[in-house]
Amino acid sequence: MSRGNPDNKHGSIDYLLGITILMLIGGLLYPPVQLLWPQRHLPLASSALIPVADEAGIRPGSALPFVYQENPFLLINVGRTRHAVSAICTYRESILRWDEDRQVLVCPAHGCTFDVRGNVLHGLAPRPLPTLNVVLSGGRIYAGG
Ligand code: FES
Repeated sequence: MSRGNPDNKHGSIDYLLGITILMLIGGLLYPPVQLLWPQRHLPLASSALIPVADEAGIRPGSALPFVYQENPFLLINVGRTRHAVSAICTYRESILRWDEDRQVLVCPAHGCTFDVRGNVLHGLAPRPLPTLNVVLSGGRIYAGG
């Protein structure tokens, strides 16, 4: 039984090492490039409502991710009101996460925070988050422009 050519093994290790080094360099370069990259505006066109969840499908205080016109949004249930807010930070477009303890949207990249209406609470974000209208009908929650 052949154990393979030792030169091939050495070549494979070199290849993997090269890929690993390229990935490390890419990982180091990505944040500064992202900082320098010009911002894009969320291209939301007015559109019809889409079904997002059952009314009972989102517990109070929580958030549910959904996609609207190919953009990530969060449906947030605070108090007795549901809010649909973009999940893309207006500073450098990182994906926001919902902090259930603080009831704010938090950007993990540079620390911006937003309230459930999309208003900037803290950080360098230049404008509020885009929001959608939320409608309850027949036990379903719909969101749209
Ligand atoms: S992308 Fe930096 S604070 Fe959001």
